[in-house]
Amino acid sequence: MNKLTYLGHSAFLLETQNFSALFDPFLVSSPVKAKDFKNLDAIFVTHGHGDHFGDTLQIAQNTGATVYTSLELASWLSKKGVHAIGMQFGVAKFDFGTLRMTSAKHSNSFSVESGIPCGESCGFVLSIDNKKIYHAGDTSLIADMMLLESERIDVACLPIGGYYTMDVNDAVRAVSFIKPVIAVPMHYNTFAQITQAPNEFVKLVKDANLDTEVKVLNFGESFTF
Ligand code: NI
Ligand code: MN
Repeated sequence: MNKLTYLGHSAFLLETQNFSALFDPFLVSSPVKAKDFKNLDAIFVTHGHGDHFGDTLQIAQNTGATVYTSLELASWLSKKGVHAIGMQFGVAKFDFGTLRMTSAKHSNSFSVESGIPCGESCGFVLSIDNKKIYHAGDTSLIADMMLLESERIDVACLPIGGYYTMDVNDAVRAVSFIKPVIAVPMHYNTFAQITQAPNEFVKLVKDANLDTEVKVLNFGESFTF
């Protein structure tokens, strides 16, 4: 059984039988804080913006979790004593499963130290225990999402807030491309520019007759899949 918990903005905690990981741990609106993590295997970081890199350094240092991110950000983390794996777009196999780094259309810069190279923003498809989770990171709607249909994604975490990323209408098109079993909206209502009622996304997916279940999660709320 896999459990996914929404920690606000684009932050999620994934727990499987033998593995636990955070995605984009910006925990400002989360009921769980950086210091609360004692045991963690991995942190997946889509890019260096502050609202995604978040508490990565502190959590990785506290827990010994391995950070998976761009080659460039991984190199910076390694210099801080963190075990970090530098990824490129493509597929890599690890003990826990398979990690595909997917493209995202979004800039990348580093909130902690300006001027260092960051590589490109990305998303991730994590295959673990016969399930696939897609975390899109920050991105506009991109045609590459059509390639994900054949991946048979179980859970897709998609930004819906607009302004910096896809808005609800784009996110519905993303659902029509990806056809995940479950879609979870993220990256909305945390800043004034990304104010968005998530139920609008639920309604639009329904209106489009898509076979995907949309799960709107409160901060700290979980579901199993
Ligand atoms: Ni960003
Ligand atoms: Mn963002």
